[in-house]
Amino acid sequence: MNVFRPGNGKVQLSEAQIAARIRELGEQIKHDHAEQEPHLVCVLNGAFIFMADLVRAIDMPVTMDFLAVSSYGNAQQSSGEVELLKDLRMPIAGRQVIIVEDIVDTGITLNYLLRLLEARQPTSLKVAALLSKPSRRKVEVPIHYLGFEIEDAFVYGYGLDRGQFDRNLPFITSQA
Ligand code: PRP
Repeated sequence: MNVFRPGNGKVQLSEAQIAARIRELGEQIKHDHAEQEPHLVCVLNGAFIFMADLVRAIDMPVTMDFLAVSSYGNAQQSSGEVELLKDLRMPIAGRQVIIVEDIVDTGITLNYLLRLLEARQPTSLKVAALLSKPSRRKVEVPIHYLGFEIEDAFVYGYGLDRGQFDRNLPFITSQA
């Protein structure tokens, strides 16, 4: 059985397109962090594949940590409430922190994370997001390193799930 089949929706990002954009983001992050090593914070679960590729595109020493939040559960609509399921292992005070997200939709999750981590007094707090759906935004949030701006479609693959499946698709796709 071959599961690596793209959907027929409008948003389609190939493996090659994603890889090329991540190379650019990695170079930009290196350029912006000449003075201090960045500390990348992966927002589980969805960002795990983006994180893995992004850190390997940053050609300088970096540290990393992982946290887990849930706002959607198995639903396709955000419940509006964010739950911290797993906190960071390391302190971030005095560090140049980059939050790594797979997708910014309403902005509610990222807004929660920015407030949570800002209170821990990092030197700087930036955001890298592979995807953004600006038309869905309910809270304005900054994205310093953005992969792709996309229209409002339900996307999956490359870490993003469809009913918990399809995170292992090497591309991002959508259904019409
Ligand atoms: C997704 C995604 C973001 C959030 C974005 O997580 O990874 O964290 O939703 O949506 P928002 O901008 O509307 O807040 P989800 O809760 O689906 O969990 P997952 O990453 O474990 O799949």
